[in-house]
Amino acid sequence: MTTSLEFYPPVIAHRGASAYAPENTLAAFIKAAQLGIKWVEFDVMQAASGEPIIFHDDLLDRTTDGKGEVSHYSYTYLQTLDAGRWFDSRFSGERIPTLLQTIKFLQEAKLSANVEIKAQSGHEEKLVIRVLDELAPYLHAAQPAILFSSFSLDALHFLRQHSPHCLMGLLLHEWEPDWQYVCTSLQCISVHVNHEIMTREAAQKIKSMDKILLCYTVNDPARAAELYSWGVDAVFSDIPDRIVDGNWNIPK
Ligand code: G3P
Ligand code: MG
Repeated sequence: MTTSLEFYPPVIAHRGASAYAPENTLAAFIKAAQLGIKWVEFDVMQAASGEPIIFHDDLLDRTTDGKGEVSHYSYTYLQTLDAGRWFDSRFSGERIPTLLQTIKFLQEAKLSANVEIKAQSGHEEKLVIRVLDELAPYLHAAQPAILFSSFSLDALHFLRQHSPHCLMGLLLHEWEPDWQYVCTSLQCISVHVNHEIMTREAAQKIKSMDKILLCYTVNDPARAAELYSWGVDAVFSDIPDRIVDGNWNIPK
C-alpha cells in the first residue's frame, strides 16, 4: 500500500503541544493549532464504561487529581477529575477528553491525527472496534488525515482485520527482529521509531521500503535537523514550534 500523507511543517505535536499545556487535553490540541502545527499525536485508552478516552499512563496519578488504574473507572467518574492543574493552575478544570470530543475539535481545526492505541492487554479488539466505530464518519476524508499506530501487534492486527483500508503505522521502541515482516504483512504505511535508536542506515532502509518515517520524541532542533537530513519525514515533539523555528530551511 503506497499512500502519501503531507507532513508540513514536518513535526507532530506529541500528546498535543505538551510542553505548553497539559498533555492529551483539548488545551494541548488547541495550543498546537495556535502554533500552526498540522498534526497532533495522542494516546487512546478505554474507560471501564467503554468510551475511548485520551490518556497516556495506566495510572491516573501523574496527570490528574485521581488515583489508581484508569481502566477501572467509568467515564462518568473520569470526567470529574482535573487533568490540568498538575501542569499549571492556569489549566485547572481541564478534563480528560473522549475520543469523540477530540476528533470533533480536530476536524474543526483541520488538524490531522496520529491515534496511538494503548489498549489493556487482552482488551485490544474491544477498544479497536469502538475506536473504528466512533471514527468511521471521518476515516475516509483525505484531509484532515487519521493515521493509527500502536506498539501492540495485537492492536495493529485487529485494526487491519476490522478496517482493511485504514492508515496504519508500526511503532518501534527497539528494533524488533521481525519489524520489516510485520510492516509489510499488515500494510503499514509508516514506521514510527524511537529517535534514540535511529541511524542513517536504518532511515535509508525504511525509505527504500517506501514507508513514511517518523521519529519520537525529539525536543532538540539540532537532532531534528540531523534526522531530516537522513530522510525522516517528521518528528514528534513536545515543542513543535521550536523544532520548526530551528529548522526554518527544511525543504518542502
Ligand atoms: O507515538 C509516538 C510516541 O507517543 C510513543 O510513545 O509513550 O509517548 O506514547 P509514548
Ligand atoms: Mg503516544
